[in-house]
Amino acid sequence: MERLQKVIAHAGVASRRKAEELILEGKVKVNGKTEKELGTKVSGSDKIEVNGIQIERENKVYYLLYKPRGVISAVTDDKDRKVVTDFFPHIQERIYPVGRLDYDTSGLILLTNDGEFANLLTHPSYNIDKTYVARLKGIPPKFKLNELEKGIMLEDGKTAPAKVKTLKIEKKQDKAIVEITIHEGRNRQVKRMFEAIGYQVQKLKRERFAFLDLHGLNAGDSRELTPHEVKQLRALAETGNLL
Ligand code: URA
Repeated sequence: MERLQKVIAHAGVASRRKAEELILEGKVKVNGKTEKELGTKVSGSDKIEVNGIQIERENKVYYLLYKPRGVISAVTDDKDRKVVTDFFPHIQERIYPVGRLDYDTSGLILLTNDGEFANLLTHPSYNIDKTYVARLKGIPPKFKLNELEKGIMLEDGKTAPAKVKTLKIEKKQDKAIVEITIHEGRNRQVKRMFEAIGYQVQKLKRERFAFLDLHGLNAGDSRELTPHEVKQLRALAETGNLL
C-alpha cells in the first residue's frame, strides 16, 4: 500500500505537492469515489483518476539489450522489420528504447517504461559517455583522428570533443578498428564524424553506455539493470558523477 499522492506523483501526472493540491481540491477519485484525504493509502489494484482520467500504474522497469544488427530501435515498424521490443516477449510493461541505434548498428541499448529516466539519459545537456567501436574502410592517420578529438563541423554544427583510439590496423585489407567515445546523440553521429574526415564506417557497435558494458552477453541477449545501476545512471546524468 502506498500513499495516494505518491502514487499520483510516480505516475508522472504531477509533482508530489501538486498531487496533494489535486487531492484537496477534490479532483482525485479512488475506485470512482472522490478522495480528499491526504493520508489515504491505495493498493496496486485500486483505480485512480485525476481530473477524470485514469492514471497508469505500471511498475518501472529497466533493461539492457545487446541489439543485433538488422533491428529497428523502436516498438513498431511499418515495414514489419524486427524491433528491439521483440526481444522482450515475456515483459508485460510497455517498454521502449532510450535513444536509438541505427538499423545496421549493433550494441548496447537501454529500454524502460520510465519516461522521466529516458528523458534524463537522452537530454543533450547531460554527459553520458557512449563508446563505439567502428570498422573503417581505410586507415586514418593520427592527425585526422585528432580532428575528431577537437570537435568537427557537421551539417548540424560542431561536435563536442571526442575520445578516439585506434585499436587495430589491418594493413592488407586496408581497414582500421577505431574506438570512439562521445556524449552527444545526434542522428548517425559516429558515421557522419568519420565521413567528415574522409572514412566510411563499415561496421559499428556500441560497446559501452556510461559504466555499462556488454560483458557476458551475446547479440540478442538482455538483462535487467540492478536498482543500483539505475540510481547510478540517474546520478551521472544529473550531477556528472557517480554516487
Ligand atoms: N552513431 C551512428 O552513426 N550510428 C549509431 O547507431 C549510433 C551512433
